[in-house]
Amino acid sequence: MSGVTSRALILEHFGELPRLVERPVPAASPGQTLVRMLATQVAHLDLNVVDGKFGILPDLPAVPGTNGAGIVLASDSHPEGTLVRVNGKGLGLRLDGCWADHAVVPDATVIAVPEGTDPALACSFFTPVGTAWAAVYSVAAVQPGERVLVTGAAGAVGSLTVQIAARAGAEVIGVVGRASKLSHVPAPAKAVLATEMSPEAVAGQIDAVVDTVGGPVLRDALGLVRPRGRVALVGYTAGREFTVDLADFLLADVSLLPVNLMTRGKEVAADAERLLTELAAGELNLPIERYGPDRLTEAVERLRTGAAVGRVVLDLA
Ligand SMILES: NC(=O)c1ccc[n+]([C@@H]2O[C@H](COP(=O)([O-])OP(=O)(O)OC[C@H]3O[C@@H](n4cnc5c(N)ncnc54)[C@H](OP(=O)(O)O)[C@@H]3O)[C@@H](O)[C@H]2O)c1
Repeated sequence: MSGVTSRALILEHFGELPRLVERPVPAASPGQTLVRMLATQVAHLDLNVVDGKFGILPDLPAVPGTNGAGIVLASDSHPEGTLVRVNGKGLGLRLDGCWADHAVVPDATVIAVPEGTDPALACSFFTPVGTAWAAVYSVAAVQPGERVLVTGAAGAVGSLTVQIAARAGAEVIGVVGRASKLSHVPAPAKAVLATEMSPEAVAGQIDAVVDTVGGPVLRDALGLVRPRGRVALVGYTAGREFTVDLADFLLADVSLLPVNLMTRGKEVAADAERLLTELAAGELNLPIERYGPDRLTEAVERLRTGAAVGRVVLDLA
């Protein structure tokens, strides 16, 4: 591929957005696979890296992007021409990631996906599906007939959590932060505004919460849960902190439990892969917003402000 150039979003300074540049197509070494990226996701984790606010960061300059999907161009381990998704092993964290037309990735990050899968779906389903599955089944351990409240219920993780909890036999209440999102809460959940969360609005006590927004929304949701109920914490888009009165916390007897896909990825992988088929068939729904790499600023703004509905993906095809 000498002489051929390729676009890449290069992060030069934490706290600034990467610049779109032309560069030579990178070459794969043994143990690495060269992928022609067709789509790559822009997620909160990627923005935390761009901002320099994550526990694992690359040396700069670096290419962000923890998840991508594309075609294998060269590899000792994966057949050329295979449609794959890539993530893990520090990709987009300490290693160069997927925000580029061509990416050289460790062979171990490459997973084949069914031919014909939309690359935007292939690069963006695993985290929200896997996290939602872990939250519902492993952490909140939702039982049929329970009443489950999901915050950020129109977001990527939140909307899938609503759908998976409902399939598990729960009665689901979906909480959103703005009125424009009420109609994006998947059926059959009852949609409620975060500012209007109250025992009356949710019609009684809640057995389990899956919280994807944190901050004051988490504090308010905790107050709705029955004694011995569970709160599975996924994310903190609405705030990294909240204060808790420890006397009230002990009295309430509600467990606050972290959901960490990095430690649970392997245990949910088979279920997440199975649900990709259902997503592709439209039996489960994950909305995707698509942007060209030249529209990164707009894509990031949609995600940062919470205006985005579902996944935000850069289309590199
Ligand atoms: N623990 C894990 O392993 C894990 C895995 C995946 C994701 N996450 C985290 O989970 C969270 C949700 O991820 P996601 O992919 O579902 O994100 P998303 O699709 O962007 O949804 C996040 C939701 O947060 C709400 N929100 C409230 N205040 C916001 C603000 N200031 N800026 C942006 N959004 C705001 C928005 O809903 P409203 O408009 O309804 O308020 C938005 O729909 C993120 O923090 C992500 O990092 C954690």
